[in-house]
Amino acid sequence: MTNTRPSVTDTVQDRIANRMQTGLLRQLRTANGLVDFCSNDYLGFAHSTALRDAIRQADTQHADALTGATGSRLLAGQTDLADALENDLAKFYQTEAALLFNSGYDANLGLLACLPQQGDVLLTDELIHASMIDGARLSYATRHRFRHNDLTDLVEKLEAVTDKISGQVFVAVESVYSMDGDVAPLRELCDLCDHYGAALLVDEAHATGVYGPNGEGVVVAMGLQNRVLARVHTFGKALGVHGAAVAGPAVLRNYLINFARPFIYSTALPPHSLLAIGCAHQHLQTHPETSQQLHDRVRYFRQRIAQKLPGSVWTDSTSPIQCLILPGNDNARRVANTAQEAGFDVRAILSPTVPAGQERLRICVHATNTEGEIDELIRKLKP
Ligand SMILES: Cc1ncc(COP(=O)(O)O)c(C=O)c1O
Repeated sequence: MTNTRPSVTDTVQDRIANRMQTGLLRQLRTANGLVDFCSNDYLGFAHSTALRDAIRQADTQHADALTGATGSRLLAGQTDLADALENDLAKFYQTEAALLFNSGYDANLGLLACLPQQGDVLLTDELIHASMIDGARLSYATRHRFRHNDLTDLVEKLEAVTDKISGQVFVAVESVYSMDGDVAPLRELCDLCDHYGAALLVDEAHATGVYGPNGEGVVVAMGLQNRVLARVHTFGKALGVHGAAVAGPAVLRNYLINFARPFIYSTALPPHSLLAIGCAHQHLQTHPETSQQLHDRVRYFRQRIAQKLPGSVWTDSTSPIQCLILPGNDNARRVANTAQEAGFDVRAILSPTVPAGQERLRICVHATNTEGEIDELIRKLKP
């Protein structure tokens, strides 16, 4: 039999060409020298020399630590350092236990793939992050989406399933949504979950370090830590380092050690990363003024857009993620290019990443952005 199929490289090239034609080709770009209105380094920790020095000092104090974990935590990768860090994280996030993952992506993937099982139902907000969606896809539970932050729609979905299944019901949300910057109605979600006997899972990726008395996230800020089953805290955003942890009851930690595949089947974080995560949490607690400054800057940004860009449409956000809606991919791309040419790193978020008509400029405000930089950027956004 002769093979008439095109080569794999031709097929792959066709798919890339297709992306290019529709203007959606993704490319790696280094934003050298531009003012940062793009990164998730909300507190400027990734640039902090004080944090860098603290991590170097911790590395020196642990000079005998290995360069790598050498295996999964279930094999050779288990260390006292990891256990001690998890105990500290559990205390910090005001919960019984914490389990480290190599990234927030891994944590969400592991949690959502293994916790809701066959016979269970998983209800997800339509705007949850790709890592939660991918985890949900790997789960054998039945999955339904509810409209973004829409409690009425969620009640309908809960009503439809609660009496019909004998399994568990899980609800998955983000506390601060990565593409809109708005905050989930967590208290009402807890009330609904209590009422319907569902368990709430909250991704705190964009809230960790930003909300709460010491940066513990929105759940602790609202005193809901005993009403949420699991929280995912990521350390590559406001904390300025890398990695993540699931915070929750000890039984959940034990469950994840047994069933979460990204935890079981991957080399653990190296000692250097564990030390860096510990130092970043210390830095957070010894520099509360940074988060104060971040929220001051966000308030300033919002005042200025109200004054200088009346009539412009923004997502309903008081978080550092501020989005200017510019319908149409070309429109969003054009304004992003103008801002970039003027020296500001802002990125357009195009459809289909967001629904058509909701294309936008996603602007991340940082504690380190000056009022002058904010004024100048807003000037460049004028139509
Ligand atoms: C809401 C949300 N959850 C999880 C993640 C993944 O976290 P990490 O970058 O640590 O893999 C991201 C990253 O973009 C995110 O925005």
